[in-house]
Amino acid sequence: MTGMKILIQSILILIAVLISTTGADEVVYAQVGDSVTLKAPPLNTQAKYVNWFLDKEGGSSLAWCNHLGGKGFISDASWKNKLELSDTSLIIRDIQQENFVTLVVTLDNQKTSSITYRLSKLTVSMDPPSPLLPGDRLSLACNTETPQHHKKPQIYWLDPKGEPIRPDKETVTKTASTQDNGTWTCVIKHDKVDKKAPISVTVVDLSPAPLQPQYTSKSTPLIIPCSIPSHISWEQIKAKGITEVHWHFFPKTSSGHISDHPVKLYSLSLGESLSWIPNQTRDLNILQDLKTGNLSLTRKQGREEDRGNYVCTMKFKNVNLNRTVEVEVLQIISSPGTNLISGQALNLTCGLGHPLPSNLQVRWSPPGQTSLPSLKSGPHPAHLTIAKVSTENGGTWACALLQDKKQLISVTIKLKIEPKLSTSMLVIICSAAVIVLLLLILVLILYRQRQRKMRHLRHQLCRCKNPKPKGFYRT
Ligand SMILES: *[C@@H]1O[C@H](CO)[C@@H](O)[C@H](O)[C@H]1NC(C)=O
Ligand SMILES: *[C@@H]1O[C@H](CO)[C@@H](O)[C@H](O)[C@H]1NC(C)=O
Repeated sequence: MTGMKILIQSILILIAVLISTTGADEVVYAQVGDSVTLKAPPLNTQAKYVNWFLDKEGGSSLAWCNHLGGKGFISDASWKNKLELSDTSLIIRDIQQENFVTLVVTLDNQKTSSITYRLSKLTVSMDPPSPLLPGDRLSLACNTETPQHHKKPQIYWLDPKGEPIRPDKETVTKTASTQDNGTWTCVIKHDKVDKKAPISVTVVDLSPAPLQPQYTSKSTPLIIPCSIPSHISWEQIKAKGITEVHWHFFPKTSSGHISDHPVKLYSLSLGESLSWIPNQTRDLNILQDLKTGNLSLTRKQGREEDRGNYVCTMKFKNVNLNRTVEVEVLQIISSPGTNLISGQALNLTCGLGHPLPSNLQVRWSPPGQTSLPSLKSGPHPAHLTIAKVSTENGGTWACALLQDKKQLISVTIKLKIEPKLSTSMLVIICSAAVIVLLLLILVLILYRQRQRKMRHLRHQLCRCKNPKPKGFYRT
């Protein structure tokens, strides 16, 4: 049994060797503009010449080389600057229509060691051509001219991800979507050789919106992304008949519902030069340089009223392309305020202004000395209640929003807590006030006395200077 198997295998190998060296006949598929490398049969020690003939053995000589390094090429214009010999392999560059021929290569003109190469044209095409819009018909074709008496090769397409389209077909026809953007490849499988012919497909669309909401706060920048992928130009977009580009805002209510009444933020003027026309901008900025395709809205800081959905839209005659970006604002609310007197009740709430989704948690970081039982174990509550605040609770409180232990954003609030006046302090203050009052009275009394003394003195002086009129002198 095994002996038989080995025999069959040997015969098969022998046949393979014979085919590869004697009169092998290969089809080589190429696109216009391609380069191909054709191998000569393996050299044996006696062989001195490698000859490349057109059409058939003994036909016009296309190229030759010998064992001493000499070589020569056809002088015909259609082969000018296209041929090169690398070792004994023939390289044909930039193949044109007239170069799809049959070649025979021989060693020392021996029939036993010759190979026939049939250069066959391969065409990949797209109709209608790029660019497409999502919803347009995408139609690709891969055509080959297989020589007579040769088996048609297996032909199939690979999508831009490299996945084969089944069942195998020379054509692909489907409704274009964003995923179809990229390089499609036609694969021609024959004689265990894979020839791959790529074609680029452009589907005009906006870049994908972030899967997660954009989180912001009063101390964090707000970025609402939207962009046109860099491989798509405004010329291509205009060529597809764009009619409108704009941004709309759908505010979120405190119950977490999205309003039905959008606000138009910006619209694009599609004249000779593109420019944004502000509507109700809500202090959001947009890049006026549209060449980059960056349509994002930005602001240095978020605001409570930024919560909601932002929709970036490109309108064409038959299709609207849009992306929705959800914005959430994290904030800490302190009731009754941030300036407190120790002993007051305090409520702190950290959140997004509506009930937190179950996959999100908050984590508090109170200032240094604060220790709260509610923060000791388990998940932190969104609401903190402190029945009586003390000065130790003053300082910066931070609250982070977490998803699967990963921090999304954090915010801080500064609490100022004044100490409350105690009775002993009241006694001290009152005593001090009494002492000050007594001192004042003392000073006043002393001043009065001094003034009276002065007046008395002046009186006496007057009497010596001016002699008194006689009538007064009576004792
Ligand atoms: C768009 O511009 C904003 C602000 O200038 C920038 O933060 C953002 O990274 C840009 N986005 C892209 C995709 O270039
Ligand atoms: C704190 O919240 C509770 C209920 O959650 C409320 O009864 C109380 O009045 C609030 N206190 C302040 C100071 O806002």
